Formats: sequence, C-alpha cells, structure tokens
Amino acid sequence: MKILAIETSCDETAIAIVDVKKNGTKTNFKILGNDLASQVAIHTQYGGVFPMMAKREHSKNIIPIFVSALKKAKIYKKVNKIKYSIELNNKIIDTLVREQELIKKWHKTMPYIAKPKIDAIAVTVGPGLEPALWVGINFAQALSLLWDIPIIPVNHMEGHIFSIFPNKTKTFTVDMNKKMFPVISLLVSGGHTEIVVMKDFMKYKIIGSTRDDAVGEAFDKVARMLGLPYPGGPEISKLARIERENDLPSTITLPRPMLHSKDYDFSFSGLKTSVLYFIRDLPKGKFDDNMKQKIAREFEDAAVDVLTAKTLRAVKFYKAKNLIVGGGVSANTHLQKNLTKALQETDSKINFPTKDLCTDNALMIAIAGYFQSKSKKIKNMNSKIIANGNLAL
Ligand code: KG4
Ligand code: ZN
Repeated sequence: MKILAIETSCDETAIAIVDVKKNGTKTNFKILGNDLASQVAIHTQYGGVFPMMAKREHSKNIIPIFVSALKKAKIYKKVNKIKYSIELNNKIIDTLVREQELIKKWHKTMPYIAKPKIDAIAVTVGPGLEPALWVGINFAQALSLLWDIPIIPVNHMEGHIFSIFPNKTKTFTVDMNKKMFPVISLLVSGGHTEIVVMKDFMKYKIIGSTRDDAVGEAFDKVARMLGLPYPGGPEISKLARIERENDLPSTITLPRPMLHSKDYDFSFSGLKTSVLYFIRDLPKGKFDDNMKQKIAREFEDAAVDVLTAKTLRAVKFYKAKNLIVGGGVSANTHLQKNLTKALQETDSKINFPTKDLCTDNALMIAIAGYFQSKSKKIKNMNSKIIANGNLAL
C-alpha cells in the first residue's frame, strides 16, 4: 500500500510518500519521498508563529513540496494537460475556495501531473493551528477528488508517538508485538506536554498534562526574554551547554513547579514568570551574556528535572517496558541524557526519534495514517473532514 502524507499543523509544510508491506506482526515501511518547507525563517522575524501567516506560507509551499516529494519518489510524470469533467473541476474549486494562493498554483501544476500509484492520502487534522491545518486538509480533499482515492485523518500527537520507528535509513519496521507494552509516552512540543499510557497498540490514556503552558512554549517565551530568536528551544540549549561543558556551577535557583505533586501533571507558566521576575530584579548592568547563559542553564535544568521526575514515576508505576519520547522538545540533548540516566534504575527501554523526526514532519503522519487505515478510520472521497485545533489523542 502506498500512502502520501500531509502535515501542516504549525510551521512546517511537509509531505511524505511511503510504501507499506505487512508481514505477520511486522509492518515494513519504505520511505519513497519525504520533503519539508520550514517557515522558521519567517516566524523568527516576529518572535513566534502567527496562524494566518502560517496559513499563507502553507498555501504557497504545499504544491512545490508535493511536486518535490513526487520527484524524490520517482513517481512524478509531467503530461499534456489532462481534461477533467466540469463537475470534478467545480468540486475541486469549491474545496479550495478559501486557499487563494494554493488554487493559483493548483491550476498551473496539477492538470499536468499523471496520477501516480498512490492508494490513500493521510492528513493531519489536529491538534494544531486551525487555519494552518485547513490548508493541508483542503489540499488533501482536492487531491482525493482528483485521484479518486480515500483520505485518512491523522492525529498529530499520534504521529509524534510513531516518529520513533524510522532509523536513519530508507526502510524500517514496526513490530506490533504485544511484548512491547505497557508503553509510556512523554509528548513534549510547542503546544503539548503529556504523559500517555498505552497498554495496547493505538490505545491511549492521557494520565498527565500541563495545566498551563506547554514546555516548548515555555522554552520559546524564555528565549524571547533572553533576546534569542524563535524557536527558542535549541537556542536556550546552546547557551546552557556552554555552562555545562565548562562545568560552571549553577548560581541561580528557579522553581521546579509540581515536582512533588502526586499526579502526572505539569505547570510551566510559573517557571516562565520566575525568569521574568528574576530578570526584572537584576541590578543594573547585570543582564549580560554571561547572566543569560546562567539563566538558560537553570531554566533548562528546572524544566528537565520536572519532566524526568514525573516520567520516571509513571514508568515505574505502570511497569512500562518502553518509554517513547516525542515532539520538538524531545530533541533536547539535556532531556535525552537525563531521562536515559534516570531510566537506568528501571527495566524500561527508552526510545527517541532521530533528530529530524523530533520536530514536525510528514513521515510520522504516514506511519500513523497507515495504522489508522487498518483500524478502518478511512474516509471516502466525498466525506467532509474537519480541522480540530484541540483534538485529543
Ligand atoms: O513538535 P514541534 O516541532 O511542533 C509542535 O507540534 O508544537 O515542537 C516545536 C517546539 C518548539 O517550542 C521548540 O522550541 C521546541 O519544540 N524545541 C526544543 C528543541 N528543539 C525544538 N525545545 C528544547 N530543546 C530543543 N533542542
Ligand atoms: Zn508537533
């Protein structure tokens, strides 16, 4: 089965094409094409992602990325203009009526591409920024009409869970072996901070989440206070690393909110505010590069300490055989090191995505989409799919 996956939930326009073959409990994936246009450079200028700006960029980039993914998969074939029925053309125009940038490119490009052998389209429907999600959904709907193939709606967070399976090569296997459960997933991104228990394949129970800011959001906001560009996570990490590599002692103390609470919830807004007050109360002239380094390090320590403590407790309580860590913040090397060290006292195996799959990508949507299609969550060409910014697992 060949799947084309689309991801536009935040600031990456991504398309992946995979070929999937099932063999007993094992499912073998071959990555045919995987491409992405990042909007980071644009959002950096404004210090964050504005939904309408993200939407416009997706609208501009999605067809070029789609063409590039088809070319990488060697299934792009340019042909003389294909004539479609007026009825089909009208349906497509209706579907894309809100995507002005996209529709212009659609008319110039799509009637000149031969339909490749693709069996289904997987698309992220939430959670995320709704205007951004809609671009991917509308493009998926139009493509599904054009190629007469079904759509598989995919939850972005489920994608992050599946992102640990690909290695750095073109092929990988997902083994639906019951022995891997229970699994605990720590999902840490710009919009989410969740601990999820899985006792079986694709059965999710959220046991803890943030009560205010997501951890990635806190990284981004603190970075802004320190005058660092968006996205803030990697920038804070770079500064913190200088302190750690030079073995400098931490001379600042920030709170570890909810570290000792008996639940699996988090709170990062207080930590962020503590940084704000700390900077405000510094004596004149003290907010220099050296101080910024120290703040970055202590902030990263505080956030990672809480994430590690709660995750470790969940792993122990549920006797998890595997811990999956996914989402943009899972790229954080301090978090990776701390969690790996903490899990040494358990029998649980720790699983991270490769660096490029920690952040948003369409490959994870293709994998989740394939398994969703097997559990019959597949929609035909004419059914309406809705973006849901707050979609839960
Ligand atoms: O999963 P993701 O790409 O998008 C969402 O679904 O939100 O996550 C983006 C978030 C941003 O807040 C970014 O600052 C954070 O992940 N991030 C990091 C690192 N790399 C990305 N946070 C901490 N350390 C990093 N190395
Ligand atoms: Zn994400």
